[in-house]
Amino acid sequence: MNSMNRVLGGPATAYFPADVAAERWELDGPGEEAYAAADIALGLEGVSLSFGGVVALENIDLAVRRGEIKAIIGPNGAGKSSLINIISGVYRPDHGRVRMAANRFTSVPTQKLAHLGIARTFQNLALFKGLSVVDNVISGRAYKVRSTFLGQVLGVGRSRSEEADVHGRATKVLNFLNLTHVSHRLAGSLPYGLQKRVELARALVAEPAILLLDEPMAGMTEPEKAEMTEFVRAANREHGTTIVLIEHDIGVVMELSDNIAVLDYGRKIADGTPEEIGSDQRVIDAYLGIAAENIGGEGI
Ligand SMILES: Nc1ncnc2c1ncn2[C@@H]1O[C@H](COP(=O)(O)OP(=O)(O)OP(=O)(O)O)[C@@H](O)[C@H]1O
Ligand SMILES: [Mg+2]
Repeated sequence: MNSMNRVLGGPATAYFPADVAAERWELDGPGEEAYAAADIALGLEGVSLSFGGVVALENIDLAVRRGEIKAIIGPNGAGKSSLINIISGVYRPDHGRVRMAANRFTSVPTQKLAHLGIARTFQNLALFKGLSVVDNVISGRAYKVRSTFLGQVLGVGRSRSEEADVHGRATKVLNFLNLTHVSHRLAGSLPYGLQKRVELARALVAEPAILLLDEPMAGMTEPEKAEMTEFVRAANREHGTTIVLIEHDIGVVMELSDNIAVLDYGRKIADGTPEEIGSDQRVIDAYLGIAAENIGGEGI
C-alpha cells in the first residue's frame, strides 16, 4: 500500500468500510491488567508512520492517564498532528498499536470514535461554515441520534425527544463556553477565535471521555487564549475529561498540563512533568530555546 492510500481522508470524509474496521478490531490482549492498574486511558505502543520518504513518527510509546491533561509539543513538522490523526483513525500507522481502555487497534475505526468516547478538534478549522453555530454544535452529537429519517421529517416518536435532548445538551455547552449570544449566527461569519471555540463546543457536546485538541489557541489574541485556557481547564476539572493537547504556546502548555511529551523529527525525546520538561537540556536545545524566542510573537 503506498503512503497516500493510508491517508484515509480529511476531517469530513475520514471513512473505514465496516468490514475493514471489524477485521482490525482487537480486544483484550496481554498486559491489560497492568494497564488498567496504571489507569491509562489511552496509549500508543511502538507507533511508526511515514509518508513516502518522510518519517512522521518513529516508534512512539505514549501513555495518557485517565483525567490528566497531556500536552504534545515540538517544532513544526515534529509529528504532533500525525499522532492525533492516528489516535482518531485518520491515519493508519505502519507499525504499532493504539490502546483505548480494553481495546487495542492496529488501526482505529474512525466511525466508532464517538462510541469509544473520543472527540477531537482540528488544527485547521473544520466547521460547517454555512450552518449556524448551534447546528454545528448539534452535529457533534449526530452519532447518538437513532431515529429514522422519516421520524425526523415527521417530528414524531423517538425523534422528537431525541431532538429535545440534543438541543438541551447543545444549549448547555454553548452556555458553558459563553457562545449563547452567537448561537444563531452562521459559523463562518464569526471571528476566528470564536470559531475555534465553536469547534471545542462541537467536540464537548459529545461528552467525550478523551478530548484531542490540535492547537486550540493557534491564531488567537492573548485575551482569547486566556479564555480558551480556562475553558480547557474547566472541561478537564469539572467534567473529568482526559485531554491530549497540542499547543505551541509554551506558557499555556506549562500552565495547563499535568504531563508533557516532546516530539522532534518524529521521535519522542522527552516525557514528564512541566518541571522536568522545562529543565531538560535536549528539549531546550530542540524546542524550548526557539519557542522562548517566539513568546509574544506569532508562535512557531
Ligand atoms: N498527509 C500527509 N502527506 C504527506 N506528508 C505528511 C502528511 N501529514 C504529515 N506529513 C508530514 O509528516 C511530518 C509531520 O507532520 P505533522 O503535521 O504531524 O507535524 P506537526 O508536528 O503537527 O507540525 P505543525 O506544528 O506544523 O502542525 C511533516 O514532515 C509533514 O510534512
Ligand atoms: Mg500540526
